[in-house]
Amino acid sequence: MTSSSSFPSGRVCLVGAGPGDPDLLTLKALKALQSADAVVHDMLVSAAILALANPHAALIPAGKRAGQPSARQEEINALIVTLARQGKYVVRLKSGDPGIFGRAGEEIAACRAANVPVSVVAGVTAASAAAASLGVSLTHRDHARRLQFLTGHSREGVLPADIDWAGIADPHATTVLYMGARTLGDFAQRAMAAGLPGAVPAVAIENASRPDQRVWRAALADMRHVLEHAAPQGPVVVLVGYALGE
Ligand SMILES: C[S@@+](CC[C@H](N)C(=O)[O-])C[C@H]1O[C@@H](n2cnc3c(N)ncnc32)[C@H](O)[C@@H]1O
Repeated sequence: MTSSSSFPSGRVCLVGAGPGDPDLLTLKALKALQSADAVVHDMLVSAAILALANPHAALIPAGKRAGQPSARQEEINALIVTLARQGKYVVRLKSGDPGIFGRAGEEIAACRAANVPVSVVAGVTAASAAAASLGVSLTHRDHARRLQFLTGHSREGVLPADIDWAGIADPHATTVLYMGARTLGDFAQRAMAAGLPGAVPAVAIENASRPDQRVWRAALADMRHVLEHAAPQGPVVVLVGYALGE
């Protein structure tokens, strides 16, 4: 999506970097990186991917890592707009897919409001990378009619208050919990209270697709204790559903 601009050469492209393995970058993402003047990147984006950027591009870290100080979203919005107004081709490099729990909507809106052309390059989201690493189908025909991505982290840092628990308790669904390692206990308790059996298989993956990937398998009821003991420091997705038992 683009719009006309009073800054002819400046533009912003929100690019999905995927889960970390450079081989999971799209060709379109690679081309964007190679022609960028500035790369404004999430902390989760791996060094191996940043190394593929135009060597003359400015690499600018911009937030977001759980539990660590990060740039405010408004500052990131202002930064990408300012760089584009200077005539730069700005790649806003985001982990996974920009459109999945990536605050892409706010950055697109900021560019449009400033009349800066903006486009988006899709990326491999953490759920897809995790499923591929496990060798499972998230929508296995015997087990799942529905696939749902859920954030475990509201603006207040707790489980969102408005989750559809009946949907989460659907035994024919696969649920992928992003940013949910810390709220998993609460999630599991509420899901079981809504009727999801505690024995349903769950898998937690830290650093999916990266050399330091770690995987834990447990029944949903037990996964909280497994993760508390493992104390992962990297990004974690938790996948829940009978499809994970295959
Ligand atoms: C702000 S969200 C960004 C999601 C990203 N846009 C995507 O599509 O994967 C950050 C969360 O994504 C998940 N995540 C991102 N990369 C991951 C990876 N390599 N392995 C496991 N989880 C990952 C974790 O749940 C992490 O807390």
